[in-house]
Amino acid sequence: MDPFLFRGNDLYCEDVALADIAAEYGTPCYVYSKAFLLSRCRAYSQALAGYKHLVCYSVKAASNVYLLKILAEQGLGCDIVSGGELFRAKLAGVAGRKIVYSGVGKSAAEIRSALEYNILFFNVESEDELLLVNQTAAEMGLVAPVALRVNPDVDPLTHPYISTGLKENKFGIPIVEAERIYLQACNDFKNINFVGVDCHIGSQLINLSPFKDSALRIRALIEKLQLHGLKLDYVDFGGGLGINYDGEDVPEVSQLVDLFTGVLAGLDLTLVLEPGRSIVGNSAVMLTKIQYLKNNSEKRFAIVDAGMNDMVRPSLYNAFQKIEKIVSPQQSVVEHVFQYDIVGPICESGDFLAKDRGFSELYKDDVLAVMGAGAYGFSMSSNYNSRSRVPELLVDGASVTVIRARESYEDLVRGENLGR
Ligand code: LLP
Repeated sequence: MDPFLFRGNDLYCEDVALADIAAEYGTPCYVYSKAFLLSRCRAYSQALAGYKHLVCYSVKAASNVYLLKILAEQGLGCDIVSGGELFRAKLAGVAGRKIVYSGVGKSAAEIRSALEYNILFFNVESEDELLLVNQTAAEMGLVAPVALRVNPDVDPLTHPYISTGLKENKFGIPIVEAERIYLQACNDFKNINFVGVDCHIGSQLINLSPFKDSALRIRALIEKLQLHGLKLDYVDFGGGLGINYDGEDVPEVSQLVDLFTGVLAGLDLTLVLEPGRSIVGNSAVMLTKIQYLKNNSEKRFAIVDAGMNDMVRPSLYNAFQKIEKIVSPQQSVVEHVFQYDIVGPICESGDFLAKDRGFSELYKDDVLAVMGAGAYGFSMSSNYNSRSRVPELLVDGASVTVIRARESYEDLVRGENLGR
């Protein structure tokens, strides 16, 4: 389902015209669709029905507690990577038994708080980390549930900055060393209980073959461990399923799930997935208003009120985010298409949302929607240039709820020592 559709000339989110939202709440802002989130939860639960599973939404993609609550109500757990994300998951009422903890650099304090909350398991990424988890658990008189994050050394065929499953990446334990580490640690670490194996090979994958390659390698590892008498309960294949940003042919959730369950046939395991983008990516747009237009002999620039601090993906990854005018001009009025760079107010040349995009003539005060903004949009925003972070709004049918208020200038300096 696509909740962002034109009715006449107006782009809507569910039953609310985005123009009305821009007028009432101001720009920039993020607008999420609840119906879309529910439909993505259903896509996962339907695809996984009949297979023991747990979907742990990857909190980093969009971390708002209100959104987490909606997903938790649908039965999703959380994949967290920090104490802050654990705090959010707790606020959203997610039970410890539905939380997996990933990430290469967990601190002792973070490990401790996750053990206190009785999480399902840690995805441990190095022998050093294993040591610390064991030591922390020992101090607390507990046994820590652990899966090793294995790096299967497959090329995910995605942007190098978001690929994680190659041996040159910092993530995980090389698959060739995993068997040794499992067996050695079973002997050495009395406060570790190996319950699973984990991998996550990258993000925005639109080709299923890397998933298959890595799943086959993980299966082979599981079978080797079984021969040594180590029986695991969980296999966690991470997240990574891509979404449609620009008409890409993206696999369905059910295709990915069928692939995994097919590879796992005959093994008695609970399948854990950690989707982020494929749940929230197309649930939201970011609205931004044109403040100035500037033409030089080379280019037309539309200077909008959102900058790279509000949406960093184009600047950081050269990512393509589709942009729509929320009130489209009458076809009869569209005589020419002009090429525009859509740029922000930040003092950096890299501050752009789009380059060389064709639009009918743009005007001051036109509002643009940056599509596919739900994943790694607000969650990667910052206060750079001392800009207040923008509000997040949730549409449910015809109603709009502010799920995060626009920051004030006071919020900007909170915690700073303002002197005497
Ligand atoms: N699990 C782990 C261990 C991860 O590192 C990630 C994402 C996920 C799950 C969720 O992956 P997803 O289903 O969303 O692909 N900021 C980048 C994406 C970074 C992904 C980081 N890890 C972007 O804007 O494209």
